[in-house]
Amino acid sequence: MITPLKRLIPFNKPYMSGKELEYMVRAYIGGQLSGNGQFTRHCQEILTKKLGAKGVLLTHSCTAAMEMAAILFNATFGDEIIMPSFTFVSTANAFVLRGATPVFIDIRADTLNINESLIEGAITEKTKAIAVVHYAGVPCEMDEICRIANKHGLLLLEDAAQGIQASYKGRPLGSIGQLGAISFHETKNIISGEGGALVINDSSYLTRAEIVWEKGTNRVNFNKGEVAKYTWLDIGSSYLPSEITSAFLLAQLESAETLTARRLTSWYFYHDKLEKYEEKQLLRRPIIPPHYSPNGHIYYIILPSHQERDELLKLLLENNILAVFHYIPLHSSPAGLHFGRTATDMSITDDMSNRLIRLPLWNDIDEDIMNKVIQVIEHYFNTKK
Ligand SMILES: Cc1ncc(COP(=O)(O)O)c(C=O)c1O
Repeated sequence: MITPLKRLIPFNKPYMSGKELEYMVRAYIGGQLSGNGQFTRHCQEILTKKLGAKGVLLTHSCTAAMEMAAILFNATFGDEIIMPSFTFVSTANAFVLRGATPVFIDIRADTLNINESLIEGAITEKTKAIAVVHYAGVPCEMDEICRIANKHGLLLLEDAAQGIQASYKGRPLGSIGQLGAISFHETKNIISGEGGALVINDSSYLTRAEIVWEKGTNRVNFNKGEVAKYTWLDIGSSYLPSEITSAFLLAQLESAETLTARRLTSWYFYHDKLEKYEEKQLLRRPIIPPHYSPNGHIYYIILPSHQERDELLKLLLENNILAVFHYIPLHSSPAGLHFGRTATDMSITDDMSNRLIRLPLWNDIDEDIMNKVIQVIEHYFNTKK
């Protein structure tokens, strides 16, 4: 028997670590609410250091950071960008906006990340870049991917939307490709409502990145007093967050270690409690690859079939628990069919997308809530016997 819950357990809850409101007030009192003020610069300094990057520019989303990356890579009509189809639309959209073609390849069944062994087979004379996605904050096989990119002279963008505070062989996610993109959307571990960052790991992009960031102008140089007036130099857009957003983000970045530790405790709570169901082959838990320092971003389970996945989602909802599936593969979406193409069989992408459930998880979720979720999962398997 499950005791019904009175209120819906959400999938995610934004969490404040303490100083967010104080810093937002300070931004107001300081007299600058538009972008590239002291809070933005402070966040950028913290992130540059944390990631060991050449530079970081805050953006209003990870989507914006990837659009900047596509501009900086000079992606254009006729170029092909190899990427997984099991990702958010922005990985592909950023390049489609420049006229380039996303070339989708299948994922690995273990990490749900791009299958690096399929990349070389998808390379043509039109391939310009590889865009990898570290799903759930779990790294792609970056040594092999970098080897392939170097061998074929390809650029590398890391979509590390979910990767803050996670690392691959000691290297923070987002710090390995020429460019990386991070999200601070409210569903992520470190948040500012909407928010993101472009991580610049190759210093040859630094100057142009600042121009693209500031609507295609040299306003950054003007603000530093380096030029008497600013002018239009290149394509660009308004990619800066406001100082209110950056003030909120600063408080979160200052608490990044505590927030991640807390989230990991909850992630492992689910992981331990669900072990027995995996042993009985009723579900599969996330696989933790070696050389990986996790951030506990998503706790997902894979059910044996699409039907069981949908049945369990329904039962959770009937019990007032909002668990959710994840990406609908891009290669078979209307825009994916129109703008992109597949270079491999996509059966693992289709299969995993059909069988995956993300469980409720946020930075201060309590054990009672997670126990409720486990109770419903247990009930589902008991009634199926
Ligand atoms: C892999 C991936 N890339 C990009 C994004 C877009 O991030 P944002 O909402 O900050 O634009 C998301 C959003 O969840 C994502 O999962």
